[in-house]
Amino acid sequence: MRVGNRSKWSIALLAVLLVMPTASGCGKKETIKVGIEQNFRPFTYMEDGEKKGFEVDLWQAIAQKAGIQYELVPMEHGELLKSLKSGGVDLALAGMTVSNARKNNLDYSSPYFQTGLVVLTSTDNGVIKGKDDLTQKVVATKNGSTAFNYAGEIQGAKIRSYSNIADIYNELKNNTVDAAIFDERNAHDFLQDKAQGQVKMVGQAFNKERYAVVGKKRNDYIGKVNKGIEAVSKDGTYETMYTKWFGSKPDVMPDKIKKDMEYEMQHETVKGRE
Ligand code: ARG
Repeated sequence: MRVGNRSKWSIALLAVLLVMPTASGCGKKETIKVGIEQNFRPFTYMEDGEKKGFEVDLWQAIAQKAGIQYELVPMEHGELLKSLKSGGVDLALAGMTVSNARKNNLDYSSPYFQTGLVVLTSTDNGVIKGKDDLTQKVVATKNGSTAFNYAGEIQGAKIRSYSNIADIYNELKNNTVDAAIFDERNAHDFLQDKAQGQVKMVGQAFNKERYAVVGKKRNDYIGKVNKGIEAVSKDGTYETMYTKWFGSKPDVMPDKIKKDMEYEMQHETVKGRE
């Protein structure tokens, strides 16, 4: 079939028109939703209507390096994973510990923070001196947290679990539980801020808790986030922010946290198969 000159032009024009919307669609940056917790000091929390915390600051720097546009969506901790699964948010960050078990359902970024779990008890409790003194004791902890998993394995301990961290701390202050187990830095913040001398931390921190950004399996962002974490570690931003929020320089930098974690996780998998 012969096509006249004029129709050739119209075909070309049509082709351009067809391609254009797609091309401009690619260029447009989307804004993703990132879930944070309302009350997980000093990592993410709300104060006077403002979103604050080490993770809020760090995320801003990471996202900038990674070229990610985002909106932070504060919610209850229990809602975060649900919202990730339903697509309400694209990513979440709120002191989420990486674990092999969770890796089956979720994707994690490289870890950016390492901490542990601690035991808290009433200031006048002379019996509980650490995690090994919790047999037959009433121990408060948070639903679905790593501390909850840990507490569940203590022989003979009576576990009470709460969805709100504030409730755990109130129980401690009112002496309605013997002890609580939770993430060290958050516990530390409570001791300094709201405990009014009624609660103390006992024993050494235990368990390695490594925090990372979480997304659904096979999401489009974790790769970028990892590059962002690397960049803020290298250019000194991480160290500055860490020092601002925690009062001293970090003991371990994210790349070392990652190496140690990978080593241990492989080890754990091998052990699990035995
Ligand atoms: N790191 C612990 C975990 O992943 C506790 C997390 C609690 N986080 C929070 N935003 N309340 O299970």
